[in-house]
Amino acid sequence: MTVPPPLIIAPSILAANFARLAEEVRAVEGAADWVHVDVMDNHFVPNLSIGLPVVQSLRAATEIPFDVHLMINDPHRWAPGYADAGAHNVTFHAEACDDPVALAKDLRAAGAKAGLAIDRDTPIEPYLDLLPSFDTLLIMTIKAGFGGQRFLPHLLDKVRAARQHVSAGHLELRIEVDGGIAADTIEQAAQAGADAFVAGTAVYGADDPAEAVRKLRSLAQRAYREN
Ligand code: DX5
Ligand code: ZN
Repeated sequence: MTVPPPLIIAPSILAANFARLAEEVRAVEGAADWVHVDVMDNHFVPNLSIGLPVVQSLRAATEIPFDVHLMINDPHRWAPGYADAGAHNVTFHAEACDDPVALAKDLRAAGAKAGLAIDRDTPIEPYLDLLPSFDTLLIMTIKAGFGGQRFLPHLLDKVRAARQHVSAGHLELRIEVDGGIAADTIEQAAQAGADAFVAGTAVYGADDPAEAVRKLRSLAQRAYREN
């Protein structure tokens, strides 16, 4: 029997209190693997969130690795700055980039893992052959732009297709899901083959965010093993 890989739980600070970001991040230290940072530019998505200066300041406040999710136009211009700021993983959207492989190379050269994000209405097939250039594939399980939306289970078909491709090609790649991940949805995502889970509302909307992370992890682990 093969040992399942450790799963990643990444609370999204989009659902945290922005006036107390350092404390909110520290509240999940020791429980979460990464902190997910949603950068939105009011162009690629209608919403506007935080950018590089916040990431730089927050980077100095905690040891926990940052998983930066760029929902922005022109990622080639902006993404390497997040790698330089010490992000562990920098993910940009396929829909916003005309040469994803070149940008992945730049991110790796800048010392970060490279992630490719696929939004709700984008098929996965055209991107499968690019996956050897990436460390993370983020499959949206909502339409990117806002927290607190309802999970869309049919998008797990993309997770299944990606998992099959990754297994067949023996690729080393995380398959991350983002949007509506909570206690009642994480098991189906894990069963579909996701091994990294972003959760905003389900963690920061809970009375005890660290406990919420632990609960999500145990649900995902059991479902992933049964997979
Ligand atoms: C939305 C963001 C998500 C968001 C998830 O576009 O990419 O990371 O924070 O929030 P929940 O977990 O509340 O759906
Ligand atoms: Zn996100």
